[in-house]
Amino acid sequence: MRILVTGGAGFIGSEYVRMLLGVPGGSCEGVPALEPARVTVLDALTYSGNRANLAPVADDPRLRFVHGDIRHADVVDEVVAGHDVIVHFAAESHVDRSIAGAAPFVSTNVLGTQTLLDAALRHHVGRFVHVSTDEVYGSIDAGSWTEDWPLTPNSPYSASKAGSDLLALAYHRTHGMDVVVTRCSNNYGPYQFPEKVIPLFVTNLLDGGTVPLYGDGGNVRDWLHVHDHCRGVALVQQKGRAGEVYHIGGGTELSNKELTARLLDACGAGWEQVVPVADRKGHDRRYSLDITKISQELGYAPSITLDDGLADTVRWYRDNRSWWQPLKAESAR
Ligand SMILES: NC(=O)c1ccc[n+]([C@@H]2O[C@H](COP(=O)([O-])OP(=O)(O)OC[C@H]3O[C@@H](n4cnc5c(N)ncnc54)[C@H](O)[C@@H]3O)[C@@H](O)[C@H]2O)c1
Repeated sequence: MRILVTGGAGFIGSEYVRMLLGVPGGSCEGVPALEPARVTVLDALTYSGNRANLAPVADDPRLRFVHGDIRHADVVDEVVAGHDVIVHFAAESHVDRSIAGAAPFVSTNVLGTQTLLDAALRHHVGRFVHVSTDEVYGSIDAGSWTEDWPLTPNSPYSASKAGSDLLALAYHRTHGMDVVVTRCSNNYGPYQFPEKVIPLFVTNLLDGGTVPLYGDGGNVRDWLHVHDHCRGVALVQQKGRAGEVYHIGGGTELSNKELTARLLDACGAGWEQVVPVADRKGHDRRYSLDITKISQELGYAPSITLDDGLADTVRWYRDNRSWWQPLKAESAR
């Protein structure tokens, strides 16, 4: 099987590539063998893309890296040809950046996805897995979203992801393309760019610095280890039904204040290192996914508890300063 992974040098995409290539024969822990004969990564290496994320598999002869932009139709056309499956992670992914400027979000997330979908259609790619987000639903005070819930996104990021999510489904309905969509909750784990809350807080605390807590700290998120997320995507890639949406969740909801308490504890820091800051504009209060569908149809269950996952993640950032220190220094310029 020839798999094209867009955004494969980013946080989640690189975990997917490492997972595909990490076990001899290409089988993934917990899912039947995907047997990739070839894995192509297409990545523009924006600020969050990093070749170092693929270092553990860089010498694998099955891996080919293409430095290119999903918005460039000629590049995309050439790369897509000859692949059986596309797993589409590439995106502008940070809500705060979308508030500061929405243009790259619309162009990469919406137009870039359309460019890929057109190429996949032209080249008769067997399956298109579109990686979306729970943020497309907006915010929910109580209960959990099911896959048929209406999309009411609130940030430019989530609106652009909703646009790409609906486009992917439209290519299934209009053209009969084999498209499956995943919508997941907040990921955490190694190799996450240190602007998102967990790596930002951990790296600041490891340096003895302070961490900014938005508003009253009461915003609730479900936390999903990146490896569990990728196991879920692999199940959907392999066994999901065409035209369907599948939720992938982690099963542990925490308020930002509760998350902060755990991170302080894990880093041996105290509340005097927490600085309250004005709330994010339009900050969604709570996200919550119902994962009954993927559990019952595809046998998915999260396998990494938040306690274990956070402890491992903090250890990884403690042991890999050479990975994140240059990224923070560059961002600070
Ligand atoms: N991180 C999360 O918690 C989370 C939650 C839900 C959904 N998602 C979705 O998962 C996917 C991956 O997220 P992530 O956290 O790994 O993001 P990331 O920012 O770490 O990685 C994105 C990758 O896409 C690449 N990219 C960006 N624009 C590109 C373009 N125009 N052409 C080619 N490559 C481009 C970047 O270089 C980078 O390698 C995204 O689609 C995101 O919306 C993420």
